[in-house]
Amino acid sequence: MPESISFSAPRGMRDFYPDDMAVRNTIFDAWAVAARRFGFEQYDACVVESLELLKRKGGEEIQDQIYWFKDKSDRELALRAEMTPTLARMIVAKQNELTFPIKWFTMAQCFRYERMTRGRKREHYQWNLDIVGEPSALAEAEVVMAAVDALKQLGLGSNDVRVHVNSRAVLSDLLAKLGIPRDHHAATFLALDKRGKISDEEIAKLLTGAGLPQNSIDATFKILSLTTLESVMEALGERTPALEHFLSFFDLMKLYGAGDSVIFDISVIRGLGYYTGIVFEGFDTGKSLRAIFGGGRYDNLLGDLGGKPMTAVGLGFGDVVIAELLAEKAKLPHPSAQKDLAISYMEDAQRDTAIRAAKALRDGGANVDIALHPEKPKHFFARTGKVGFRRGIYIGPDDMTKGTIRIKNLADRTEQEVTLSSLGI
Ligand code: HAM
Repeated sequence: MPESISFSAPRGMRDFYPDDMAVRNTIFDAWAVAARRFGFEQYDACVVESLELLKRKGGEEIQDQIYWFKDKSDRELALRAEMTPTLARMIVAKQNELTFPIKWFTMAQCFRYERMTRGRKREHYQWNLDIVGEPSALAEAEVVMAAVDALKQLGLGSNDVRVHVNSRAVLSDLLAKLGIPRDHHAATFLALDKRGKISDEEIAKLLTGAGLPQNSIDATFKILSLTTLESVMEALGERTPALEHFLSFFDLMKLYGAGDSVIFDISVIRGLGYYTGIVFEGFDTGKSLRAIFGGGRYDNLLGDLGGKPMTAVGLGFGDVVIAELLAEKAKLPHPSAQKDLAISYMEDAQRDTAIRAAKALRDGGANVDIALHPEKPKHFFARTGKVGFRRGIYIGPDDMTKGTIRIKNLADRTEQEVTLSSLGI
């Protein structure tokens, strides 16, 4: 191999050694169980998309992060940065055949050329849950509750993670009340989403660029200082349909017994342009990490792509931040938790018996690792102890004479003697 080849994965890309896979599988299992428990069907799609589908107008950061290339026929292609455009494409392609509302989930590998910070890599897996064709706030509630369920399976409750919720539709009503025309709202949201990342002066410049006069900009910043739903209701002065929808979401969360998991947070805007209604992000309660998941209602995307207009709600929940939080809380799975039974033998003469025992035990449902060559007992017990097997069988000449094998519980050192004949050997 030439000297210049590096043995690390390209910057931001990820290798999964077996211990990393144990973590990834634990997270994927929680996602899949929660999705099925909430009645979502699984789908998947190609990782490579046409660049055209992913290109959107407007100042979304994600647009500059797309990995794209030309194939040998000069087609402009890209690695997907998120699943939502692909989901929309798949639905539009079969819009006349599908029965709505649909509830679909996937666990998709996504690529973004991001600045690497804690919790952000250039490759990540993202659990997506989407409900398409349902306008009621129960759609938002079901999606958020499924995420809460996945967190619970991973050992995290409302003391660990909170879902911060806002509504772009309510914000829109507030902005309209201030006299800001609705066609300026999308640009306003994208500018406001940058709050905390760039200075308020720079945001004000972006808003000026979007056509807002200074007094509207001042009023917009005032809206962002509202901290309670009551103050929003007061500022709005009327119960608009958007506000009713928003309030019914909170009522539903209480009905599910998850009122403690959600909090109103006017600063949640989201950086993607397509959201139109409720938007939410899951954060660790200390807010020391980036968002664990995020999503919301996007009622215009299907229509904007050329399909029949249709309402939609969904979320994306990545594997990176949650793994950091689980590590912080010492809730990561122990890799050895998956290692069941190891069989070994002293001499070649016991090998065939070991193979037959392995077959019988595997047929009975055990996960059995057989030694590929004879070894000394000292070596066997040192090796299995280090790896963390739950049970071990070591076969020596005496066992053959007696016609038995001993299944040792490697944690408490107790033994169970089994006759070879009972295993059909
Ligand atoms: P997003 O907020 O861009 O939303 O990403 C969702 C989640 O994916 C984030 O909260 C984070 O957990 C994870 N994530 C995103 N980028 C990275 C990265 N570079 N490294 C590690 N993790 C990352 C969306 O993508 C929307 N399409 C979600 C959605 C589905 N909305 C409706 N349906």
